[in-house]
Amino acid sequence: MAVTGKRVVFVKRPVGSATPDCFAVEEFEPAALEPGQIRVAVAFSSVDAGIRTMLRGEGFHRQVALGDVIHAGGVGTITESMADGWEVGAAVSGRLGVQTLATIDPSAPGFGLERVDASLGSLSLHLGPLGGSTGVTAWIGIREVAKPKPGDDFVVSAAAGAVGSIAGQIAKRDGARVIGIAGGPDKAAYLVDTLGFDAAIDYKHDDLSARLRELCPDGVNGFYDNVGGPVLDAVLDQLAMRARVTICGAVSQYDDMDNVAGPSMYLRLAERQSVMEGFAYFHFPDRIEPARTELASWVRDGSLVVSEHVLDGIERYPEALQFMFDGGNTGKLLVKLD
Ligand SMILES: NC(=O)c1ccc[n+]([C@@H]2O[C@H](COP(=O)([O-])OP(=O)(O)OC[C@H]3O[C@@H](n4cnc5c(N)ncnc54)[C@H](OP(=O)(O)O)[C@@H]3O)[C@@H](O)[C@H]2O)c1
Repeated sequence: MAVTGKRVVFVKRPVGSATPDCFAVEEFEPAALEPGQIRVAVAFSSVDAGIRTMLRGEGFHRQVALGDVIHAGGVGTITESMADGWEVGAAVSGRLGVQTLATIDPSAPGFGLERVDASLGSLSLHLGPLGGSTGVTAWIGIREVAKPKPGDDFVVSAAAGAVGSIAGQIAKRDGARVIGIAGGPDKAAYLVDTLGFDAAIDYKHDDLSARLRELCPDGVNGFYDNVGGPVLDAVLDQLAMRARVTICGAVSQYDDMDNVAGPSMYLRLAERQSVMEGFAYFHFPDRIEPARTELASWVRDGSLVVSEHVLDGIERYPEALQFMFDGGNTGKLLVKLD
């Protein structure tokens, strides 16, 4: 009997929110393996805020064409191999696409295929704390760009999300006093009680500017921003002298990239002799391995709180982006495919 797989394809460009009807789940029969190819049974697909920016059709990042399988990171196990050095049973991660069976040439650069250490625990760790667009992004953003100093008042936005929850924990390790911004009282409690942040602001219910003044009366020394928009403006307005603002992303802007709202408070940078610097983790290729090594050591010794939000079944991928943009996830959002 022929093996069938399931995959999620892009069927409608979103206007505003990436609603489930922008995607379709379809069955397919994988083609016979060709020399040099492997087949991977994908266990988990990553849901990343940045995927929303790939659905636009032009401009920012790689774009997904209508009819394409959604480009997402995945992790799984090789089930068939005609490629030297990639044996059946090995665990791998890479840009496998949202599909239960991925047929790829591991030497092709677009897939970024890597072996992963299955002994660390769930394979999903390689999309979360050890994944390029999650833990590694947080590590590089903190260690190479934000560089918080002991005693700094350091603010993180989307702090209960995948990148933010790890970025804040690393800043805390590095001696900063960490204040997380997240939506809702449960997330605010999670930041303090579970992640060990010093304070939290629920931007959906609190007066963000007033809380920043209260929690950081001498100003914010460092800001790791995942959100942009009004949150970025509120923090810029409360910067200390010689502060560093790190732009990791701007999730509040991704649903309407034709009308990105620039920060109206940017003149505070001049007034407070401060800097704002953006980054992408892949611009630091020589820091990816050191990041993974240290993150893996924290996972092993249990000192990094690893938080996952798993949606069960490939049929749930179409709802995942909207779920994330509505703030549904705490920690790394994943879809379990197998
Ligand atoms: N620079 C890089 O190399 C790089 C690499 C990967 C990711 N990133 C960036 O990292 C950021 C986080 O990505 P992620 O995949 O880890 O997602 P995530 O933080 O796990 O999820 C996104 C979170 O953003 C918050 N959010 C959504 N809409 C918002 C709005 N309008 N205002 C404020 N908060 C909002 C939601 O939490 P609340 O409930 O708190 O609202 C949501 O849970 C994104 O900006 C992404 O582009 C950058």
